[in-house]
Parts: sequence; C-alpha cells; structure tokens
Amino acid sequence: MEGLSLCFFMFVVLNASCSCGGRLLDTNREEEIILFENGAGQAPPMGWNSWNHFQCDINEEMVRETADAVVSTGLADLGYQYINLDDCWAELHRDSEGNMVPKASKFPSGIKALADYVHSKGLKFGIYSDAGTQTCSKQMPGSLGHEEQDAKTFASWGVDFLKYDNCENSNITAKERYPKMSEALLNSGRRQIYFSMCEWGSEGPALWAKSVGNSWRTTGDIEDKWESMTTIADANDKWASYAGPRGWNDPDMLEVGNGGMTTEEYRSHYSIWALAKAPLLIGCDVRTMDSTTLELLSNKEVIAVNQDNLGVQGRKIKSEAGLEVWAGPLSNNKIAVVLWNRSSSKATVTAYWSDLSLEPQKVVDARDLWQHSTQTSVSGQISAELDSHACKMYVLTPS
Ligand code: GLA
Repeated sequence: MEGLSLCFFMFVVLNASCSCGGRLLDTNREEEIILFENGAGQAPPMGWNSWNHFQCDINEEMVRETADAVVSTGLADLGYQYINLDDCWAELHRDSEGNMVPKASKFPSGIKALADYVHSKGLKFGIYSDAGTQTCSKQMPGSLGHEEQDAKTFASWGVDFLKYDNCENSNITAKERYPKMSEALLNSGRRQIYFSMCEWGSEGPALWAKSVGNSWRTTGDIEDKWESMTTIADANDKWASYAGPRGWNDPDMLEVGNGGMTTEEYRSHYSIWALAKAPLLIGCDVRTMDSTTLELLSNKEVIAVNQDNLGVQGRKIKSEAGLEVWAGPLSNNKIAVVLWNRSSSKATVTAYWSDLSLEPQKVVDARDLWQHSTQTSVSGQISAELDSHACKMYVLTPS
C-alpha cells in the first residue's frame, strides 16, 4: 500500500514520550495527518544550496568542487548529503519539444553528468524550479503547465531533491499549483525525490502542505543579518506544532559563513535552526570557508538534536526583554534547551524546571553541546551568563 498510494492517510496519535508531561513540552497530539508518502524527509534534510552565497553566479565546475569539499572537509560524513542547485541553471527558453535546457555557458556537460558526478561522491543531487511561468531571477522557465514533463526530466537526470519556488505564478493559488508537481514527482519514476516547497509561507502551508511536500518555507528570504535571522526564527516558531517526520517547517537556508554576522550570532542561528528541526542547508562557499565556520557546521551533538528520531520542533518557551529559552523534547526522555541572549548587553539567562515542564525534584545531567562538557546532578534550573547575541545549547538527560 505504501508504495502505491499518492498519499498516506492515517489517524495518528502522536504520543511522543516525554517525562515532563507539562503543556509546553508535552507532545501528545491527536490529529488527523495526511502525509506526503514518497519515502523522503524522515529527518530534516542536510546539505548545501548555491543561492545564499552565489545567487546566479553558478557553474558546473564550482558545483563539482563543492561536492569535493563537502566530502574532504568531513561534512558528508556528518550527514550533509544534498548538493542543490538553486535558480539560474537553465536557458531562458525551453527547446522545441518543451524541455528545460541546461545553460550551455555554465553547464556545458549537462545536468545529468553533474548529478552523476555528485552521486559518484556518495552524495545526492538537488535542483530548482518554480511553480510559475518563470523563476524569480526571470532567467529561466518555471514548471507551471509543464509539471509532468519537468518531473520526468529531473527523474531522468537522477535528481534527488526539488526546491520549488513561487514567482510569476499567474495568481493561481499555491494550493492549486504545488500538488501538481507533487503528483508529477510521485509519477516520475523516481519517487523518492525530496519535495521542498518554497511558497514563502504565503498561504499558511504548515496547515495543508503535509500531504504535498516534505517541507515548506514559512517565511520570506533570509538575509545574512542578525535582524533577518531572528525575525525569521520567530516567524517560523509560530508553526512549530505542525512539523514532524516527512513534513518540516523551513525557515530558509543557513547563512553561517557568509560574513554578515558574528561567530556568536552564527552559533545562535545554527543552534536555533537545529533545535527547530529546520533543514540544515549550508549556504556558504564550502571550498573556502574558514575553520570557525567548519567547526560551527560540524558539531555532531547539535546535528544529533536536529536529526533526532522524535522529530518534534523545539520552540521558544520564554522571552523576557530579549532573554530567551527555547526547548523541545528529544527521544529517550531527553530535552534540548537553548539559552539565548538576544539583548544588546551581557546577561544571565535561566531556564527553570517549571519553564521546561520538568518536575521540581528532577535531577538531570546537562550536556553543553558547544563546550562538549557535562554538568552532572543539575536540579531546579540551568543558567548561563551570555554575551550579547550569544547562546548556550544543552541536552538534559534525567539522571
Ligand atoms: C526566491 C527564493 C530564494 C531563491 C530565489 C532564487 O526568492 O525564496 O530562496 O531560490 O528565489 O531566485
């Protein structure tokens, strides 16, 4: 049944085990869920995408070098598996048979050869199109009205991931346009193509897109700035309860390493994205990134929070004058906590057990995921003095 049906319709009691039992971290949910059943997105996707750093300045050599770098830096072994092209990979016009054509000046060997190369490195290959007549750059066609043809083309090239944008959409609703590509992908002969919906949260996709795609953007585009990153984190947080395995909220790709934020701001960006079960799609030039960037992107313990089997999006549970606690349950009764100082001066941020819905007498081990050290027998609260815009990230394990 699983392999045959368009959607997997089920009545689920999502009964995530959580010793805390209180409201904020209580994940007992009873709801009707229609899941997009293509076999992808069991955990949030991890990889790289060309847009945040390169915009339209992309070519096959750069993408091959990026795949090489993802392997040689160890990122691939940590789970970053998708190498994704964004906008501007195709010629402006389709060929006489209506097919999309790789831009000859940038991708002379064609996309299939590039996908083959990426696959030969043990990685997966992603591509980009748009649920409109043209993409946002207006430099290539969109797939509106060509969904089946394009899905078959992508499948024939060995594509594993499709990001599907929302420009030039002829004022047809996303609810009408996105399911067409979703179905076309399922019928393309390459069913497991991860479908990344990018309609910017415009029609509240968290409410309906579970049956259409593996993730959906909840906001407009991120910029490599503290203001943008924090605004997007908050906007995405509102939809936390709708995310889960095979259907994730997407607050946009990572800016870590692009230069517009401080190291502590990037650490916060990465920690919150990981906690929120966001796709971890690197958006910098991994061929030339510095060691600090690599270290931020390579934290196995933070990645483990993002990829945790329970798949519950962590959320903001307390905010007082820019001093914030974000938290969420993990498998095996663990709790992930981020203490975050968003104020403009040094301050102490505290999460009390009552904030975390932990019983008052509960004793935990607190693993500091960035220091890689453990405080044993912690009770009642956990707190840290933090520089402006800095965070601490912990996993609490009941003793
Ligand atoms: C939109 C998307 C971005 C990027 C650009 C490409 O703005 O939201 O993520 O794909 O288009 O033009």
